[in-house]
Amino acid sequence: QETAAVIDGKSIAEEIRSAIAIEVSRMRRCIGKVPGLAVILVGQRRDSQTYVRNKINACEEVGIKSLFSELPEDCTEDAVVRELLRYNNDPSIHGVLVQLPLPKQSISFLVCFSCIAIYLQHLDEEKILNMVKLEKDVDGFHPVNIGNLAMRGREPLFVSCTPKGCIELLIRSGVEIMGKHAVVIGRSNIVGLPTSLLLQRHHATVTILHAFSKSPELTTREADIVVTAAGVPNLVRGDWLKPGAVVIDVGTCPIEDPSSEFGYRLVGDVCYEEAARVASAITPVPGGVGPMTIAMLLANTLDAAQRVCD
Ligand code: GUN
Repeated sequence: QETAAVIDGKSIAEEIRSAIAIEVSRMRRCIGKVPGLAVILVGQRRDSQTYVRNKINACEEVGIKSLFSELPEDCTEDAVVRELLRYNNDPSIHGVLVQLPLPKQSISFLVCFSCIAIYLQHLDEEKILNMVKLEKDVDGFHPVNIGNLAMRGREPLFVSCTPKGCIELLIRSGVEIMGKHAVVIGRSNIVGLPTSLLLQRHHATVTILHAFSKSPELTTREADIVVTAAGVPNLVRGDWLKPGAVVIDVGTCPIEDPSSEFGYRLVGDVCYEEAARVASAITPVPGGVGPMTIAMLLANTLDAAQRVCD
């Protein structure tokens, strides 16, 4: 039985990173400047800490300068805004990102012997993302960038990294997008929504599925391309796919695993073994979309720097 080609995000991302490293050293040589990225992390989520560490290490590897601010979970919104404005105004910094999700503060109390927890969003995510300088919004999360991505005839300054990485994987694997039926599972602001918009820009017919969709498997069975970003392990089974479909798995669900270095590992949304028997190409987790997100962040940061410096 045929098995799907593995879309090797790790090696594609490495290629992109070497090209970026060459361009960064050219900048350093020609104008004596390098791109700069600032990362703000609030709270102690272990997955966020890992992502941030990976981003900073990747900057170092390609010669991009990075600055890092770590704020405690209970910090005020003002403290986050202060850091953000400092980076917005720092001419050596071309990209600023606030790692999401921002923490929610919990208040627990006892009512009739049951412990009730209330989660308060003390940090207004939308307000904070709105304050990232548009020209430095390398995550592409600013509402103006997302709005421009959504509207025909407009161009966003930046497209968010994971969606851009998914498209790049398709293009570099020789998958045609134009005229194909693409199904996106998930409608988050940071993955599902922008991915569906990008696929439309590449002239796919796009269907979005989410938690309230009825019989999602009937829709995915019609898809030439399935991009899944639901965060539900083993959601997509082999029999959800049309033979020959291309599967991009953006799922990153942390599963406890005492044998791994950090005590957990990430699993995708796709039942990989089953899907690989039906699909023509598929991304693994890890080693698929994840490394591409970081490569696209570096690419966006380089773009941001070149717009100001060249
Ligand atoms: N949380 C999950 N993905 C991302 C991302 O690409 N950027 C930021 N800032 N936070 C995230």
